[in-house]
Amino acid sequence: MATAENKRPRISSGVEKRPSRKEILGRKKAVKELIRKAVAVKDHLAQFTDFHKYQRNGISVYLESGRGDLLTLPMRKYIQNLLKANMEEPYGPEWPSEEKVKRREMVAPEARYIFVMQYPNGFIAEGRLLGFVHYRFVVEEDLPVVYVYELQMEPSAQGKGLGKFMMLLIEQIACKNQMGAVMLTVQKANTLAMAFYTKLRYVISSTSPSRVDPQVGLEQSYEILCKTFDSEAKSKLEDGD
Ligand SMILES: CC(C)(COP(=O)(O)OP(=O)(O)OC[C@H]1O[C@@H](n2cnc3c(N)ncnc32)[C@H](O)[C@@H]1OP(=O)(O)O)[C@@H](O)C(=O)NCCC(=O)NCCS
Repeated sequence: MATAENKRPRISSGVEKRPSRKEILGRKKAVKELIRKAVAVKDHLAQFTDFHKYQRNGISVYLESGRGDLLTLPMRKYIQNLLKANMEEPYGPEWPSEEKVKRREMVAPEARYIFVMQYPNGFIAEGRLLGFVHYRFVVEEDLPVVYVYELQMEPSAQGKGLGKFMMLLIEQIACKNQMGAVMLTVQKANTLAMAFYTKLRYVISSTSPSRVDPQVGLEQSYEILCKTFDSEAKSKLEDGD
């Protein structure tokens, strides 16, 4: 979180040089190009062999990647059911409209997935899903970031270190693709998720309603969290410079 010490001074010596229109356009183009390159990677997980299998805390699972427009019908059903089971309560009365939004987001071509798969007795045909993370490469505050749209584990798979493992993978994917940060939205009512992300050293972003305007923040049911990987992202997304 920003402190008096680490807040970067806006003016260092005399008048700070403002970037020219050409420089601004050049930066925008560079950010777009980073996003294009990251989106073009067919399988982000393939580059991280340490994350292909998770065997700890009495659970043995495999991670597999996917994308929104290639989800099978059973996968779509699974995602919808898990979202309802985990999120109906924290969303409260907002759930019916939010559920519609999530159904659309789920199948978008930009949606990238990492699935947690379990194969009882080693049989591929008996494979079953235990959870997933849905992420995207997007631009926030003119910076390229990975936005985590969903991180969902089945109740039976929670508390075994899998959520942390998935977020570590997402952070690796973000860094490998030169993204400035990982960002996500959490319902304020979802105190367990908030505690989980705080433990993983995510902080409330300066773009979150509660920090943009505390009065507006009180009326909103969510916070935007982030973890930044470079000084520019820290300045824009954490410190709010
Ligand atoms: C939130 C969620 C993704 C966390 O995943 P998980 O696999 O259960 O969490 P992990 O077992 O990986 O926990 C990682 C660390 O966070 C801590 N942690 C997890 N839940 C916590 C909680 N409620 N309070 C405090 N710490 C918590 C763990 O103790 C662990 O710490 P350690 O590394 O020191 O041992 C998972 O519980 C879930 O799917 N919840 C329902 C859906 C949801 O709310 N998703 C988030 C929407 S934004």
